[in-house]
Amino acid sequence: MSEKLWGGRFSKSTDQMINEFQASISFDKRMYHEDIAGSIAHANMLAKCGIISAEDRDAIVKGLKEILQQIEAGEFDFSVDLEDIHMNIEKRLTDAIGDAGRRLHTARSRNDQVALDTHMYVRRETVAVQKEIENLQRALVEAAEKYSDVIMPGYTHLQRAQPILFSHQLMAYFSMLSRDFARFKGVYDRADIMPLGAGALAGTTFPIDREYVAQQLNFQSIYNNSLDAVSDRDYIMEFLSAASILMVHLSRLSEETILWCTREFSFIELDDAHCTGSSMMPQKKNPDVSELVRGKTGRVVGHLMAMLATVKGLPLAYNKDLQEDKEGIFDAIDTVKFSLAVYAQLIRGMKVHRDVMEKAVTEDFSNATDLADYLVKKGLPFRKAHAVSGHAVHYCIEHHKWLEDMTMAEFKELSPLFEDDVKEAILPTTCVKNRNSFGGTSYHQVDLQIEAAKKLLQAEEACSDATARKQANVE
Ligand code: ARG
Repeated sequence: MSEKLWGGRFSKSTDQMINEFQASISFDKRMYHEDIAGSIAHANMLAKCGIISAEDRDAIVKGLKEILQQIEAGEFDFSVDLEDIHMNIEKRLTDAIGDAGRRLHTARSRNDQVALDTHMYVRRETVAVQKEIENLQRALVEAAEKYSDVIMPGYTHLQRAQPILFSHQLMAYFSMLSRDFARFKGVYDRADIMPLGAGALAGTTFPIDREYVAQQLNFQSIYNNSLDAVSDRDYIMEFLSAASILMVHLSRLSEETILWCTREFSFIELDDAHCTGSSMMPQKKNPDVSELVRGKTGRVVGHLMAMLATVKGLPLAYNKDLQEDKEGIFDAIDTVKFSLAVYAQLIRGMKVHRDVMEKAVTEDFSNATDLADYLVKKGLPFRKAHAVSGHAVHYCIEHHKWLEDMTMAEFKELSPLFEDDVKEAILPTTCVKNRNSFGGTSYHQVDLQIEAAKKLLQAEEACSDATARKQANVE
């Protein structure tokens, strides 16, 4: 005889090793809140539809609330024998209130129950991720404003290319993060569909009211196909995909941060409180946080691959393979939230070496495009101007000087179109100021970006606050 909640048709109890192998309680216990909220909504619905009595409903709701308190007080003993969070709670409830507890699972399967819990969990955590995105975005805007006049070389091929504002570089990451925010909004919408009532796979013979459950738990819509409801893991794949893209963004920022902290670049210095030292080399100050974020990106991308591969060959409807959806997404949630939070700190604590950045612009040829553009504005076709500027660079390299060190006679030698105003035209500040096309690096355009970013942040906050308020009603 098996003592499991499903033990009726079994003549033996489960092998201990198999028991441990198939249990998910060690990781799915973090959905206890969702499981209890879902069960309360289900019990309310069963009573409303006359499937259980009002007395049973009251006993269930009271019993579940007590279990919630026990779990939160750390007084709940989770058992591997009871497999997962659903049966741990149901068994404890039944021990406490008897037959009423045994009625809770009427018209419900663990297949739609686990789907419900996971939807609610992902929905809640998606808003938490959005909050962390906003925080990092705010840190970027603060830094962009603080260093609004710092010029640095912009790079292509990691070779100095054209002078840009450091703020422009920072605001590029702001833009990436705003797409991430929007992607998580999409994830939220797909997690906001209510699966309960699908039963094991085919619906139920009881006259349930799925609308009422959805209302109580604040779901936007209801799955309209029971097979889909219990098999769908799109919202998990979408979360992992949005999380992977976000981590790739943070990883690129990490790569730059690591480079900028090197002695070779020395563009920035991270706060001592945000770095670590070496156990052997006394002089070291390592940008571990950035390295770890870059490293953890691989992990999150791995979770996405694992989920895609897990679902790929699955027939409908529920298969135990789907239990594998949880550890990856839980880890991705923790990793993404933590990485965003530490990055906001890192940015807020960073010191910028404006003199080093500016030297990297003045002692360089990154104003060569501006020299060409100068000639174009005097009437020379761009291809010819490009060639003249190229010759000027070549001449300077041979004579160990920079473009701004050239005499007027040397300029005139290359083209009669050069006049005194060329000196002004190739100053880094002019190069930056003149790139005033929409979205460009000019002081004015970056100011506009920052203004727009602040407005967008307000809209993002309003959006995530509104969803967080909806969540609060459920809790
Ligand atoms: N722990 C299971 C999971 O996470 C719950 C659903 C189990 N359903 C079943 N038919 N065995 O997927």
